[in-house]
Amino acid sequence: MRFPSPLKLAAVFALSALALPVQAEDVNVYSSRHYDSDDALYARFTEETGITVNRIEAKADELIARLEAEGKNSPADVFITVDVGRMARAENAGLLQPFTSDVIEARIPAHFQHPDNLWFGVSQRARIIFYAKDRVVTPPATYEDLAAPEWKGKVCIRSSSNIYNQSLLASIIETHGEESAKVWAAGVVGNMARAPQGGDTDQLRGIISGECDVAVANHYYFLRGFAKDVDGLTAGIDGIGWVWPNQDGRGAHVNLATASMTASSPNPEAAAKLLEFLVSDFAQAHFAAANNEYPAVAGVSTNGNTDHLGEFSADETTDTAAFSRNSAKAQAIFNEVGWN
Ligand SMILES: [Fe+2]
Repeated sequence: MRFPSPLKLAAVFALSALALPVQAEDVNVYSSRHYDSDDALYARFTEETGITVNRIEAKADELIARLEAEGKNSPADVFITVDVGRMARAENAGLLQPFTSDVIEARIPAHFQHPDNLWFGVSQRARIIFYAKDRVVTPPATYEDLAAPEWKGKVCIRSSSNIYNQSLLASIIETHGEESAKVWAAGVVGNMARAPQGGDTDQLRGIISGECDVAVANHYYFLRGFAKDVDGLTAGIDGIGWVWPNQDGRGAHVNLATASMTASSPNPEAAAKLLEFLVSDFAQAHFAAANNEYPAVAGVSTNGNTDHLGEFSADETTDTAAFSRNSAKAQAIFNEVGWN
């Protein structure tokens, strides 16, 4: 077993002050997601089932370290992350158990499920291309275009240590193979307007400040600029255009918020009920709306804010499990091409 780093251990001890009870009528959730509106979501589950939901919320890597440290004695029943790559870390550490459910099979598309039913997608998060409307006439139409010579010195994208870029490159490896993916990554590095810095919102701010003509970010960072006053974004948001990538091909790269049952779940029946609840129309709409995401279940409506971005087709041919399967290869390529 791998030992958690001192940082992780510190997080584990900090969290352990919030020990959860193990009771038959309770379900214990470790979640790397937190929105105020989650309270209403879980309250509804309790209303419907009589099962109390206890939550510990922290960064995914901290929760994974905690699950590892607790081992078989962990009180956690359900683990929720906001991307496939982090869920893969839990998967690789043996922290999850497969579970099958007719409800989930019927509701969640096959490509949003782990092949051995270790997790499934709860909501969709698209990684898309943004551009400066006043400086760009024909923006890149595909992820592949981001590496084209015409964008030299114009592209802003965050660091390779970020899991969103790791999953994007993993999907490109799955589509084109490792060699082509390396050429692509080197091309993007050659086109960078500046050394990678900041989060996704900072890439959008770079368009407004004039540093970047083209930027890559998850869709909801842009939508937040409409929903509330985001410093450096909202005031200039009308100057930002967007492209749903690869619409004439495989579709836009979409990551998933994912839910799973822990290997050590003391109350797997309650865990299964909660996981099934998460794919209900109510939970799907509520879960996605909290962060301007797209539900994983087809036909469930989004909150109105997503209307800003219009319709799109998502990549449904690339298996989302490949994001984790190819993550080590992606990291090696990033290192090799100097994408810091
Ligand atoms: Fe995010």
